[in-house]
Amino acid sequence: MRIAMVGTGYVGLVSGACFSDFGHDVVCVDKDVSKIDALNRGEMPIFEPGLEDLVGRNVRGGRLSFTTDLDEAVGQSEAVFIAVGTPSRRGDGHADLSYVFGAAEEIARALRGPAVVVTKSTVPVGTGDEVERIICETAPGAQAWVVSNPEFLREGAAIEDFKRPDRIVVGTDVEEAAELMREIYRPLYLNKAPLMFTGRRTAELIKYAANAFLATKITFINELADLCEAVGGDIQEVARGIGLDNRIGSKFLHAGPGYGGSCFPKDTLALLKTAEDYQAPLRIVESVVKVNDARKRAMGRRVVQALGGEARGRTVALLGLTFKPNTDDMRDAPSLSIVQALQDAGAAVRGYDPEGIEQARPMMPGVEFFDNPYRAAAGADAVVLVTEWDVLRALDLRRLAREMAQPVFVDLRSVYPPEDVEEAGLRWFGIGRPPRDSAFQ
Ligand SMILES: NC(=O)c1ccc[n+]([C@@H]2O[C@H](COP(=O)([O-])OP(=O)(O)OC[C@H]3O[C@@H](n4cnc5c(N)ncnc54)[C@H](O)[C@@H]3O)[C@@H](O)[C@H]2O)c1
Repeated sequence: MRIAMVGTGYVGLVSGACFSDFGHDVVCVDKDVSKIDALNRGEMPIFEPGLEDLVGRNVRGGRLSFTTDLDEAVGQSEAVFIAVGTPSRRGDGHADLSYVFGAAEEIARALRGPAVVVTKSTVPVGTGDEVERIICETAPGAQAWVVSNPEFLREGAAIEDFKRPDRIVVGTDVEEAAELMREIYRPLYLNKAPLMFTGRRTAELIKYAANAFLATKITFINELADLCEAVGGDIQEVARGIGLDNRIGSKFLHAGPGYGGSCFPKDTLALLKTAEDYQAPLRIVESVVKVNDARKRAMGRRVVQALGGEARGRTVALLGLTFKPNTDDMRDAPSLSIVQALQDAGAAVRGYDPEGIEQARPMMPGVEFFDNPYRAAAGADAVVLVTEWDVLRALDLRRLAREMAQPVFVDLRSVYPPEDVEEAGLRWFGIGRPPRDSAFQ
């Protein structure tokens, strides 16, 4: 099958590379010339484990190429995927669909034969209808079926998720389109990945419902972590105790500094806007958004408290800046709110991240960056573990205690047992357990 992937970001690049690995002929298109030039030189524009090998192998095999020429890529394809961004619209928080609609118009003009136009971007319910209208108006004679096929991959595990998905959701009522989609995903459902066909609007909604539910699970455990601190419980044991119940499941029950990233924050907001527009309020999701926003900034205040309530003139080193490990994505990362809260309180902030510094630098003015966690920590008054990268899971705590100005260690990911931290000569502060000097210890 000849496939054009319009938009070569996290989703477009991974999906395009994986489709080519299944044996399809894929052309990835992007408007960003520097991104396409880099890819044509064999350089990855993003950090994603395994991506460079996957791309290199398929480029060498002649099944994967990169271009800025949408006309040519689309003109020769039987399936055209839209994988452009749908960020929050400034002002009202609804999904900004200008990239999707812009791509739909360009695709309509470039279509030469019958094709499926597949929306992989996360788009509010009804967007497929609008894409169809745009294509019909722009190219009245075009034979195109507009299908919804939301993507569920997680950054950091994107290739594995794409190749071994829990399910593939395809929204279409047209049998010819369904047949083409079956053909595209055949290698996966031979591997037993359930291919689920639904109406287009239902498929669009499934994606938002999934993200809102996961954001709710995270937020639920985060609030319970606060309660554990107040009453003398241990959130990790509570999470294990409830997660072993199959009806609940153990995933997404790890208390932390609040969810961030390129999807949950914007998708929960966009879903709320849809709910508002259709007068079907989603009160639980409304609370999740509010609680999570407040939590990210509260984490900065927690560090100030760990410093004895005064951060002015103090130096704080943040270890791990990306919104989660194994990605360089900084979009809506909790570290951004923490930095802001600390700087507002007068602290000098340092940052270390194994892959995210290049992305973080322009988003964190005033932060001093280091290429090594110990250099970042040397002379600091507090170290805060913000993102649990593997390289930060076995820190030499004694070395930190020796080299820091004050031995304050704030573990926002519960990586280190408090006992180990204190044994190394550091003072432990964390989440989901009462402070060590509280009445509960
Ligand atoms: N990042 C994730 O983990 C993830 C997971 C599932 C779904 N999604 C959804 O997938 C979509 C894409 O997300 P992303 O993170 O890959 O975005 P991204 O910002 O990394 O990439 C989008 C790309 O589209 C390009 N683009 C925009 N308009 C174009 C056009 N008309 N022609 C060609 N290229 C164009 C941009 O230059 C950019 O490179 C979003 O809707 C997102 O919500 C993302």
